Amino acid sequence: MMILAPSMLSADFKVLGEELKTTEENGAKYIHYDVMDGMFVPNLSFGPGILKSIRPASMLVHDVHLMIEEPIRYIEAFAKASADIITVHIEACEDLDATIAKIRECGCKVGVSVKPATPVSVLEPYLDKIDMILIMSVEPGFGGQKFMPIALEKIAQAKAMVEAKGLNIDIQVDGGIDAQNVEDVIKAGANIIVAGSAVFNGDTKQNTIDMMEILNKYE
Ligand code: DX5
Ligand code: ZN
Repeated sequence: MMILAPSMLSADFKVLGEELKTTEENGAKYIHYDVMDGMFVPNLSFGPGILKSIRPASMLVHDVHLMIEEPIRYIEAFAKASADIITVHIEACEDLDATIAKIRECGCKVGVSVKPATPVSVLEPYLDKIDMILIMSVEPGFGGQKFMPIALEKIAQAKAMVEAKGLNIDIQVDGGIDAQNVEDVIKAGANIIVAGSAVFNGDTKQNTIDMMEILNKYE
């Protein structure tokens, strides 16, 4: 099953509860929650407090993407704030093994992400310990950027690497995905699609329906 993970970064915050409900009612399964620290990326977003406050408004899987230096410092806080999946950047962790262990210890699923310039092969030693690979298709930091086609190659490499080991690891892709290019992303091997602007800019309901119609064509 293909999963749509709308990125909350682009939602209309004055009606956040309704935005979440609209995506959920129209087929989204995850809410992708982008955390930025102004260090790992040149932008700031939100912390665990807001995550906690949206739980009562949404049964969507809380998919937390930490774009922060040394994310190990905040894993417990996000887990307590009801994260279901916590994804960290390999580039941001001094000790990725310890960071992965911490996410597990807190009862969350583990994702590890690579920026556009980081090859997916760096993830190979960690494959036995993770649930999801997140391939960035833009430089992390801002919504609304243009999809970088290099990601397609990396998705295919990640998929091949996972299959070669006979593992069951989700492949998520994040950045610049819309109704025009999402099929390329799916065909390359992704099964979790993050989309911010394509879902929340304009009519959230119609955008979600349009994206889901495409995703539902695939197993
Ligand atoms: C970028 C974030 C993305 C972003 C996606 O750093 O990780 O999740 O919000 O937004 P769009 O779909 O607009 O590129
Ligand atoms: Zn993200």
